[in-house]
Amino acid sequence: MRRAEVQSLLFSSHTRHPVSALCLIQFGTGDGRGWLRRVLPAVSSGARFEQFEPVRLNLAFTLGGLRALGLPELAITAFPEAFRAGMAARSEILGDVGLDAPLHWQFGSERAALSALALLYATDAGALDTRLTQFRELAERFGVGLEVQLTYLPADRCEHFGFRLGRDQPNFSGDGKPRGFGRRLPAGEFVLGYRSTHEHSTRLEVPLLRSTRPLPRVVGKRRLDFGFGGSFLVVRKLEQDVLAFRSLARRLADGPPGSPGVARLIGRWPNGAPLAAYPEAMPASWNELADFSYRALDPDGRRCPFGAHVRRANPRDSFDADPRSVDAHRLLRRSRVYGPRLAWTRASDDGHERGLLFLALSADLSRQFETVQGEWLNGPKFLGLRDEVDPLLGKDLVGEQGQVISRRFTLPGFPARQRVDLPRLVRVRGGLYAFVPSLRALGYLADCGSAR
Ligand code: HEM
Repeated sequence: MRRAEVQSLLFSSHTRHPVSALCLIQFGTGDGRGWLRRVLPAVSSGARFEQFEPVRLNLAFTLGGLRALGLPELAITAFPEAFRAGMAARSEILGDVGLDAPLHWQFGSERAALSALALLYATDAGALDTRLTQFRELAERFGVGLEVQLTYLPADRCEHFGFRLGRDQPNFSGDGKPRGFGRRLPAGEFVLGYRSTHEHSTRLEVPLLRSTRPLPRVVGKRRLDFGFGGSFLVVRKLEQDVLAFRSLARRLADGPPGSPGVARLIGRWPNGAPLAAYPEAMPASWNELADFSYRALDPDGRRCPFGAHVRRANPRDSFDADPRSVDAHRLLRRSRVYGPRLAWTRASDDGHERGLLFLALSADLSRQFETVQGEWLNGPKFLGLRDEVDPLLGKDLVGEQGQVISRRFTLPGFPARQRVDLPRLVRVRGGLYAFVPSLRALGYLADCGSAR
């Protein structure tokens, strides 16, 4: 894969850029194309990954945004069903019901639909502020709506419950250099146009265009592949109830000091070490072990419970040892936290919103994200468990008489297992699917509407 063709988000978790912002953009009656042409030169490509840039910019678009920019219907109708429908319309599949339903979302529902996202990553708050001021001026000049969600990567890299984030990222074939840990997945798992674990790759053909910019790859007579080098982005704003988590942690910390307690809900220790490999106590240092096998280390869930968040989110070989199945549902996570940390000494709410802005890239929303979210995290039947869902994110389960079933988590114990009642810990506050075009496809977008 040529890194210069794809946006930097595909390669970088932007650790050198700890302060960040998600700009939520609504073209409305404004000049979306004018706005895009103006910001296009600042978009960071994968090739700039190793160079120093004080601020990195990536762009993504919803279907509505692509349509507003004039992307030909030929490509609009070729997008996969999940993307065309949008995340809010997939709420039943994803388990976004009750308090998590789109009705309550701050963005992404029909009522609060967006056109585009600008993801800004900066080395420091000053650099981010300067760029945000420019973005606000541009939004005003081109008449587009702009709202800003500030996010960051904490120095300890932990999310608000206190667990290290982003430990296990898939390793995929890019430009020949190894990146990440573990078995290499084909680039087509995350980038359109390349070979994937499954044969087909979405092709988004568009008519050839007169333009002075480099255009996407030619794929037929007067046809270009708009999708080549692009990726789908999942965005979910997930509010975390830190007080509820800490009180649960106290309730579960009934073992000897250092015993797993709440780590069993996650399946990893706070420093990221997997319980499947380190069941007794949190190791001071540990090997990445990205490719470990649950079948080999923990076939009956004694170490990492079957229902733990990481086991549901990536069951590895728990169902099936065929590498094609094991690798078919991976996500390239790029999450950041929002809102200040809750002080450890605090026993009551401090009035601030806080949570995780979950971002994940994949080439196939349905096979990758929707399987993980809808079938595994929210699947009430999972690896022999019944009537329970992910301990962090699970939806409210409703019984046959319409009653809400209380949340619970099964800790395998021998001879008897133990059931723990859980509070609601996370609430969905917004979400959408967006498309992250290649650099060339961005150029096409900037010109296509006006060329008609
Ligand atoms: C507030 C919400 C969430 C919290 C606090 C959370 C927390 C964590 C933590 C602490 C880990 C282990 C460290 C790491 O690899 O990052 C993890 C792993 C993971 N999470 Fe989440 N997560 C959240 C939401 C989600 C969502 C919405 C998804 C997908 C739909 C997801 C999918 C995953 C995956 C795929 C892994 C890697 C598992 C592995 O490969 O072993 N998470 N999460």
